[in-house]
Amino acid sequence: MSEKKGYLTNREIRAIAKANAKQIKRLEAYKNRKAEESEFLTQMKDDSNILEIEDLHTYFFTEQGVVKAVNGVSYDVPKNKVVGVVGESGCGKSVTSMSVMRLIQGPAGQIVEGAMRFKAYDYQRDAKGNPVCDGDGKPVMEEKIYDIAKMPINEIHRIRGKQVAMIFQEPMTSLNPVFTIGEQLDEVTLLHVPNATKQMAKEKSEEMLRLVGIIPENVYSSFPHELSGGMRQRVMIAMALAAEPRLIIADEPTTALDVTIQAQILDLLQDIKTKIDGSILLITHDLGVIAEMADYVVVMYAGKVIEKGTVLEIFQDPKHPYTIGLQKSKPTMTLDDSTELYNIPGNVPNPVNMPQHCYFKERCAKCTAKCSGQYPGMVQVSPTHFVACHLYDGEEKHG
Ligand SMILES: Nc1ncnc2c1ncn2[C@@H]1O[C@H](COP(=O)(O)OP(=O)(O)OP(=O)(O)O)[C@@H](O)[C@H]1O
Ligand code: SF4
Ligand SMILES: [Mg+2]
Repeated sequence: MSEKKGYLTNREIRAIAKANAKQIKRLEAYKNRKAEESEFLTQMKDDSNILEIEDLHTYFFTEQGVVKAVNGVSYDVPKNKVVGVVGESGCGKSVTSMSVMRLIQGPAGQIVEGAMRFKAYDYQRDAKGNPVCDGDGKPVMEEKIYDIAKMPINEIHRIRGKQVAMIFQEPMTSLNPVFTIGEQLDEVTLLHVPNATKQMAKEKSEEMLRLVGIIPENVYSSFPHELSGGMRQRVMIAMALAAEPRLIIADEPTTALDVTIQAQILDLLQDIKTKIDGSILLITHDLGVIAEMADYVVVMYAGKVIEKGTVLEIFQDPKHPYTIGLQKSKPTMTLDDSTELYNIPGNVPNPVNMPQHCYFKERCAKCTAKCSGQYPGMVQVSPTHFVACHLYDGEEKHG
């Protein structure tokens, strides 16, 4: 960017457009390629995980330059656990989860680098890629580790909606207004369960509605607009469950709901995790929700993970100045009227021109001379607790 003028010159705009077009062409070709299954099969680093995100980079190639929305994110989701992701608006929480679902809107948005290893339960396939059946004609299932980042987009149906389901903030955007709840629920079973009949699908839909606390007779034939917000979110959860996913991604699932319904939906999610024997990746601004629900917490800031650990570590012994600030900015019952809520001063740097040094530097009260140098590496302060901040350099405690 031309510093004197503070805006882009025509020459700079053309150079950005040319560089973007080149990258997009390469990444789109990779995404749309045909590939043998062996190309996207991999191994988990730790067998107790269901998902391992490693060094994920998801960028938006815009007219102003490259927005590194997710810039080297790594975290794991262990089996049967809830992982909560927190961080300021725009820090890349949703873009990370949309990358796992491969729902990043191209051509501008692209997964550029990194791995997303997912432990799937999928059809055994022959050399031609067709499902193998047993003597009774039933497909043979097996555990397979897919690297979601390497999957061609036309293979993503193997996991999307089926093994990994997503619950969004606003259920009305995901429910189709012209079909009944029953029709939409049945569709999930008809799509994902091999040889499913209409009768089977209806029975499954009713079972799922009961599981989320809805009497099917009251809702099966209703249209989405006839239900309250809380009921719609329950339906969305029922829909996510119908395919029996191993991982549920819930992105701000309760933000649009009032507090009472919020508590009911959170209880429901907790309950369901046990019932489906799966894991939940829970994205929220609300630290209270995280404290109640999560086993592990990932704190993101400006496209990076800056701290991660168990819920106790993050709440009782936060290390990163940003996490400490987040905890302080949480409202508590003990605050009297004269105490103002703490507010982290300053803003996130411009996403197109991120500095080399720590992205929190301009807002950090603990900043030292070292903080003007290289971006801090991840330091392991306990077997499960990691922090990216120079204050902890040399404090590695493994095992
Ligand atoms: N289509 C797009 N084009 C350009 N930039 C985008 C696009 N979508 C997202 N971004 C950028 O990616 C960054 C991360 O966005 P993301 O939606 O993941 O934030 P978030 O952490 O989920 O925030 P929130 O808490 O508000 O939901 C933002 O800085 C945003 O500007
Ligand atoms: S690296 Fe420095 S500037 Fe960044 S959070 Fe740590 S102390 Fe603050
Ligand atoms: Mg979001």
